Amino acid sequence: MSKDKPYTVASFFSGCGGFDHGFEKNDFSVLFGNDSWEDAATTFRANYPQVKFFEKPIQDITEEELAEVTNNMQVDVLIGGPPCQCFTRLNNNHLIKLSELKKEDNRRTLSQEYIKKVKLLKPKIVLMENVRDLLHRKNQEGKLYSEIIREAFKEIGYETYCKIISMDKYDVPQKRKRVIFLATNVKRLMEFLDENVDNGFPKESNRIITSGEALAKIKDNESLSNHNFTINEPETLEKIRNIPPGGYYEDLPDSLKTKKIRNGKEVIVKRYGSYYRRLHPDEPSRTITNNYVIHPIKDRYLSNREMAILHSFPKQYKFKGNMGSVSQQIANAVPPKFAEKMAKRVQFLLDNYC
Ligand SMILES: C[S@@+](CC[C@H](N)C(=O)[O-])C[C@H]1O[C@@H](n2cnc3c(N)ncnc32)[C@H](O)[C@@H]1O
Repeated sequence: MSKDKPYTVASFFSGCGGFDHGFEKNDFSVLFGNDSWEDAATTFRANYPQVKFFEKPIQDITEEELAEVTNNMQVDVLIGGPPCQCFTRLNNNHLIKLSELKKEDNRRTLSQEYIKKVKLLKPKIVLMENVRDLLHRKNQEGKLYSEIIREAFKEIGYETYCKIISMDKYDVPQKRKRVIFLATNVKRLMEFLDENVDNGFPKESNRIITSGEALAKIKDNESLSNHNFTINEPETLEKIRNIPPGGYYEDLPDSLKTKKIRNGKEVIVKRYGSYYRRLHPDEPSRTITNNYVIHPIKDRYLSNREMAILHSFPKQYKFKGNMGSVSQQIANAVPPKFAEKMAKRVQFLLDNYC
């Protein structure tokens, strides 16, 4: 820990380091990061070369390794977002293929693994980010996952509080909703949060940043990494040109939609969601996923760098891996601007209630 950075933070499931970035920018020394995915680990190390990184599954990090990296000192804050794919709306139980079940169960137990590490490190504050739908998902016995998490924390002396965060209210040019769990074992802090859960979270801002405004800050010919565009075939380009602001494939004139023959007759193929989706320049971006979307005012898909800008990453943030891997790392991340505001709030809680 350095003198000008009075608090320590550590992370599991760190990904490319979006959550960590917010803490690094405030009064926190990052003690270590962790991820089992090589590309995420390479990205994390490129941005935080001074931070110890455990590139392996969380389950394989031993008590001795944690004692060594923390110098047997208490960690102030632990952050992490166990993988959330198993809780998203698309993966409701009817849609999970049988072959996927084992993998899904494994993902669910990762949040329990995280709690085991909390027990070892005894941080004053724990933050856990996940998809909003986690709040409605139930296990096979019909028990809510949020309750399972709450009880597991309670067993080790932590009270849990949670809030749905709409990222566009925190200087992130994106309408992304996530749930943040804040757990603490500090009595004074529990009392403060019992008064009002919102006490644990940063205040929303009235200012909304639109995708048009955010993307105006980056030029096509700017010399930045991960700022390459796909060259589209004339047929694709014609479709892109005909998508209105905020529209998608279904907004194309029928002459440009895909056709197929059914029962000897030509029918128009229907598509949903993000297919040929163009952002609206006067609104924050839709949730960034690993599906590429069309620029709000230019007739091309976004570059990974532009997706990172919509995620509020600084322009110079480094990403490693191929195009698909980088877009996945960005889509997985906690938007750094929100992380910064959350870190500031946590700093306030530590200063005044811990
Ligand atoms: C939602 S992402 C985390 C994003 C990160 N919080 C950020 O802000 O950039 C979850 C990460 O967990 C990692 N992961 C999955 N299983 C893991 C395991 N068993 N041990 C460690 N990391 C794991 C994935 O590779 C992925 O990068």
